[in-house]
Amino acid sequence: MAPDTLLRLEAVSKIFPGGAVGLDAIDLDIGQGEFLSLLGPSGCGKTTSLRVVGGFEEPSSGRVLLDGQDITGRRPYDRPVNTVFQDYALFPHMNVEENVGFGLSLRGLGAGEIQRKVRAALDLVGLADKIEARVTALSGGQRQRVALARAIVCEPRVLLLDEPLSALDAHLREQMQVELKRLQAQLGTTFIMVTHDQTEALSISDRIVVMNRGRIEQIATPAVLYDAPATRFVAGFIGTMNVLECRLVERRADSFLVAAGSLTFEAVAGSDMPLDGDLIAGIRPEDVLIEAGGVPGRVVGTVFHGRTLRLHAELPDGIGLTIDVPRSDIGADYAPGQAVHLSVRSGAARLLRSN
Ligand SMILES: Nc1ncnc2c1ncn2[C@@H]1O[C@H](COP(=O)(O)OP(=O)(O)O)[C@@H](O)[C@H]1O
Ligand SMILES: [Mg+2]
Repeated sequence: MAPDTLLRLEAVSKIFPGGAVGLDAIDLDIGQGEFLSLLGPSGCGKTTSLRVVGGFEEPSSGRVLLDGQDITGRRPYDRPVNTVFQDYALFPHMNVEENVGFGLSLRGLGAGEIQRKVRAALDLVGLADKIEARVTALSGGQRQRVALARAIVCEPRVLLLDEPLSALDAHLREQMQVELKRLQAQLGTTFIMVTHDQTEALSISDRIVVMNRGRIEQIATPAVLYDAPATRFVAGFIGTMNVLECRLVERRADSFLVAAGSLTFEAVAGSDMPLDGDLIAGIRPEDVLIEAGGVPGRVVGTVFHGRTLRLHAELPDGIGLTIDVPRSDIGADYAPGQAVHLSVRSGAARLLRSN
């Protein structure tokens, strides 16, 4: 185990009664102080992973280790782990102070100490002035903060957050992303957050685990996930990607010359890329260039995106491409039907594993 590994999932599977596969042999190491996000479509196993770590769900097989100790069979209250639930699960008949202090009173702490810790936690989430408010009188964003304060007041080693910001409107959500990140850095606590929102995961996480059908597709930093997605699934899930079936034309020292129809371009690949059979290449819209000498194509649609103009174009062989053109580069307007010459930025394409 790496020295800074706090939590380890070892071949964890979860088969539900009735046969639904929640998790299929997940291996995952989570570092001390890391902000890790679990990202993937609905039903891919994100919540099940959190529940296994929290002790709310027992794995069918595999182990959960904390500091190298097997905690697989421990009850939720017997783990140094707290959860911020998606619906916050606050007690409506209690005020803010009582909600945040509830876990501490269960642990038998004295009134003075509870009050001191509750105040400190509310300070951290910027809600000190609401200590006596009824939770039913708070806004969605404020309730979210109460739920956070209630989870951190117990000083867990690991904080689990299941879609913590999904109930907030877009503006507040962005603000809370920044605050969550700040709070995590300040506490130095390991955060594991579930989200189906790639923008949220990319902006907030140290590392992201992309899940699909109970398995892990890729674990990487936001930049690596964006620049070097390993699989077709990850490429399709993170940002926008042109995914083209192609054939190998020539193997080069550090790259491959490939062709999709009439479009020939240079692609790079991870060392574990199988090169037999059909290849799949991923090309970001900003890496398709409109330039003299390119393959002739035709604009089929345009979408205004603010700083960039998104073009949908088609090559004569029917291959469709999505292209982002910086607005500063746009001399003329593009309109459907217009002829353009297209090429791929050298080395910007990546070969993707099919699963
Ligand atoms: N209690 C349960 N009983 C049966 N199947 C479940 C249960 N909880 C989750 N599942 C199934 O396990 C899979 C993963 O679910 P979940 O972890 O909730 O996904 P996510 O949080 O990524 O949306 C889904 O197919 C879901 O239907
Ligand atoms: Mg879920």
